[in-house]
Amino acid sequence: MQLSVFDHAIQLIRDSRHMIAVTGAGISVDSGIPAFRGDTGLWNTYDPSVYASIEGFRENPRRSWEFFLELYDQLIDARPNAAHTILAEWEQKGLLQGIITQNIDDLHQQAGSHHVIEVHGSLRNLICTTCGQIIHSRGMIFDSVDLPPMCRCGGILKPEAVLFGESIPSTWYFACLEAIRKADTILFIGTSGIVHPVNEFPEIALRHGCRLIEINPDATVLTRLYDMIHLQGFANDVLTRLAEAFNEQ
Ligand code: APR
Repeated sequence: MQLSVFDHAIQLIRDSRHMIAVTGAGISVDSGIPAFRGDTGLWNTYDPSVYASIEGFRENPRRSWEFFLELYDQLIDARPNAAHTILAEWEQKGLLQGIITQNIDDLHQQAGSHHVIEVHGSLRNLICTTCGQIIHSRGMIFDSVDLPPMCRCGGILKPEAVLFGESIPSTWYFACLEAIRKADTILFIGTSGIVHPVNEFPEIALRHGCRLIEINPDATVLTRLYDMIHLQGFANDVLTRLAEAFNEQ
């Protein structure tokens, strides 16, 4: 009997011994946070090379901070959606060993996931571009007329998120590689898969026979380039369906 794509995915997940998820902006769309690319993506409003690059930030930190404030504003009402919650439950049940996320919104942790590698950093912390001090951003109120926020040392503060043109800290990068190498099944959820280092994960994973499943309403560069099962749909719908299928067993 020919298995449906969905049944095939269920079988792979059931047979997995070390499954991880790699998530992108799409998983948080149902929490009210827009993705970066696509028709309603943030990069249509904010040119990333101007607002979200390290060169742009150095040239005009106030301009970049106007964009960062929009990101902080989005987080005020954002709550984890069913997709975040299901991944956290799967970690608790031992079905999922960890998450590599490109998102800087903290929603996986708020949903209860513990093993999360934030490969692009997060908005939780600010880092001083002069003395390197890390400052927790929770409770901070940024004054839009008095940007950018400054460190006590007189340096300019920047969210501890990786901007275009910045290197990913090597400890974060190596943690990702270790997670990918250990995995026998990877769920790519809500990512266009074009940004480093996620764009190199499928090839590394396939080298040791890892099985790849993609959850995305659209086909992506990952679907086109690699041998992966594509579960077409929104993250919360597809994960809810998968979770129901497991609960019924
Ligand atoms: N469920 C699942 N996937 C979705 C949903 C949804 N509800 N809505 C949109 N998507 C998909 C889109 O089809 C797209 O493939 O999510 C993906 C979002 O792609 P991007 O906006 O490119 O986000 P991401 O892959 O996370 O971007 C990577 O690029 O701009 C930088 O640093 C930024 O971390 C970001 C990185």
